[in-house]
Amino acid sequence: MDAPRNDATRPLYDHLERLLFTEAEIKARLVEMGAQITAEYEDRRQLTIVTILQGGMLFMADLIREIHLPMKVDSISVSSYHGGTESSGTITFNENRLPDLKDRHVIVLDDILDTGHTLHAITNRFRDECNPLSVKSCVLLSKKVDRAEKIEADFYGFEVENEFVVGYGLDYNGEYRNLPEIGVLKPEFYTHEA
Ligand code: IMP
Ligand code: MG
Repeated sequence: MDAPRNDATRPLYDHLERLLFTEAEIKARLVEMGAQITAEYEDRRQLTIVTILQGGMLFMADLIREIHLPMKVDSISVSSYHGGTESSGTITFNENRLPDLKDRHVIVLDDILDTGHTLHAITNRFRDECNPLSVKSCVLLSKKVDRAEKIEADFYGFEVENEFVVGYGLDYNGEYRNLPEIGVLKPEFYTHEA
């Protein structure tokens, strides 16, 4: 594993079984993804990027600076885990307000695609209730699993195995989001729930 970036975050690194992606690797991939999205949307106007809070916030902040087009940004807050490491399958919209997406080309961002419940619920709701011109999805990580929902992201950064990962926005029980890298969480830090 790479050396931790500073002593203050040392306890967080001790919780990682191994590092998967360094800051530099994430940054390099975001440059590529930004170029891909820029090329695909450059003839369209009215792009709106909607990030799923909390997990997608770092991803959004960094990715939008690699998309060289006019755009609006918005966010939506949902819950699916309720504290554990397995998706509950029930997506709770934490607010009643939906973003204003009428006549917009929408890209929904999330940190990771796992069962697909989250992206499926949100993209369907946007299509059904918000009158967008189009809705696509973009995730930083795509887990290699048989998804409960038949949905794949239109854009993704990296594939990961079916392991619980944290960092760069991804949390366990609300923590680890501030790690600049992405790594596999040691099972001892969540097996107490089993
Ligand atoms: P899905 O609804 O099962 O596709 O899961 C998507 C949501 O679950 C994401 O928004 C993440 O917040 C969370 N999630 C899935 N896998 C992981 C993981 O390995 N680490 C942290 N969060 C995860
Ligand atoms: Mg999450």
